[in-house]
Amino acid sequence: FPLKSVTESFAKVIHGLKVGHLTDHVIQRSKRMILDTLGVGFLGTSTEVFHKANEYSKIYSSNVSSTVWGRPTLRLPPTYAAFVNGVAIHSMDFDDTWYPATHPSGAVLPVLMALSEALPPSPKCSGLDLLLAFNVGIEVQGRLMNFSKDANDIPKRFHPPSVVGTLGSAAAASKILGLSMTNCQKALAIAVSHAGAPMANAATQTKPLHMGNAARHGIEAVFLAMLGLQGNKQVLDTQTGFGAFYTNYSPKVLPNLDSYTWLLDQQDVAFKSFPAHLATHWVADAAASVRKHLVTDRAMCPIDHVERIVLRIPDVQYVNRPFPDSEHEARHSFQYVACAMLLDGGITVSSFHKHQINRPQVRELLCKVELEHPQDNLPNFNTLYCEISVTLKDGATFTERADTFYGHWRKPLSQKDLEAKFRANASGMLSCDAVERLIKIVDNLEGLEDCSVLTSLLKGPS
Ligand SMILES: *[C@@H]1O[C@H](CO)[C@@H](O)[C@H](O)[C@H]1NC(C)=O
Ligand SMILES: *[C@@H]1O[C@H](CO)[C@@H](O)[C@H](O)[C@H]1NC(C)=O
Repeated sequence: FPLKSVTESFAKVIHGLKVGHLTDHVIQRSKRMILDTLGVGFLGTSTEVFHKANEYSKIYSSNVSSTVWGRPTLRLPPTYAAFVNGVAIHSMDFDDTWYPATHPSGAVLPVLMALSEALPPSPKCSGLDLLLAFNVGIEVQGRLMNFSKDANDIPKRFHPPSVVGTLGSAAAASKILGLSMTNCQKALAIAVSHAGAPMANAATQTKPLHMGNAARHGIEAVFLAMLGLQGNKQVLDTQTGFGAFYTNYSPKVLPNLDSYTWLLDQQDVAFKSFPAHLATHWVADAAASVRKHLVTDRAMCPIDHVERIVLRIPDVQYVNRPFPDSEHEARHSFQYVACAMLLDGGITVSSFHKHQINRPQVRELLCKVELEHPQDNLPNFNTLYCEISVTLKDGATFTERADTFYGHWRKPLSQKDLEAKFRANASGMLSCDAVERLIKIVDNLEGLEDCSVLTSLLKGPS
């Protein structure tokens, strides 16, 4: 019989999906996501915001504990381990991006790593258990974003990881802990009340907390659901429930389990090659192409030869920052990424260090940047482009355009480059041996009998 309730259908799907539903495509893609997410998470453990989140969370203690990535001597209750590891993953805005727009993995993976360690030693959590719960957490996020046209575009009101990510975390935690269908439904209700952080905190040190909170709140919702806490059973059906986060919410019952299709099968994610807002990746690509016209021998032409730089990009207010003065603002600045690429010929982790952002040459170039928003260039990760024109004082103008950057789902990062990114990002925190072992374990995750082999490597050298 057809289910009338969307919420009930979610509970049924979360509870009912089995390892047999996983397809090769989904397993392959999700393994890439897992490895990449571990890498950016390790890198993020070196940030100030991670350090603050870590210190704050030390005040909690309990007997059940999980690993804080890259911190061999610290163990925290699973909620707080998921919180700080989630903060690490989003600390540099370096984690994966899906379509419609959200960062899907960061709200799910830390939850599953923390809970798999906190579970009683038997029965063991296998690699396939992990892959299934991970994909349930990703799938729920995708399904929820399909209920609103708003969600297709780069967000204006709420930061998606704090909205759909919280529900994805609750779904993944429900799955790994084996909740009953009724409790899956309760967990969704509680999680909605933990959801929602405004876009106004983009480009600040608070934004990474959205990911940490999504991870933590999903686990808390599940723990509370297991204790029988009640919420609105139709929370996904109503405008005052999950619909509160959107202007055009139109929920639908999920497909039947016999013929279930995963959204990750149809829509891959993007992996970033430098730690900044995804839209700036088109800008970097176009700026790198235009730079080739300006370079003589090995140096960029003198800045004072440049008359103006025009960026034709979508109107995304929170990534329009003419003069960023913090790393987080620079990560959300079309202007900064364009100028840094023109000057340096590449964007890396260190491009966002304070002394790089404040260089006089950068400031001088920033003064020459103008933005235009062509009508056909919509704020949508599937269709946006960047065109850049640099006009020199002698009148010459060079124009280049980027439609798809390397790492976007239309031009996917090779497995070799994905692993190279992981090695570079994780090697500051882990031994070479642990890095190589993690790559192998994730590569063969569907064959792993016991996830503790994986989680024991995350704490780093003791
Ligand atoms: C939901 O997904 C379907 C199938 O991909 C698509 O046709 C539809 O436009 C989506 N709805 C929204 C609101 O994005
Ligand atoms: C992390 O990976 C990116 C992409 O490969 C690379 O640019 C960056 O330098 C790496 N981080 C570190 C600290 O090496």
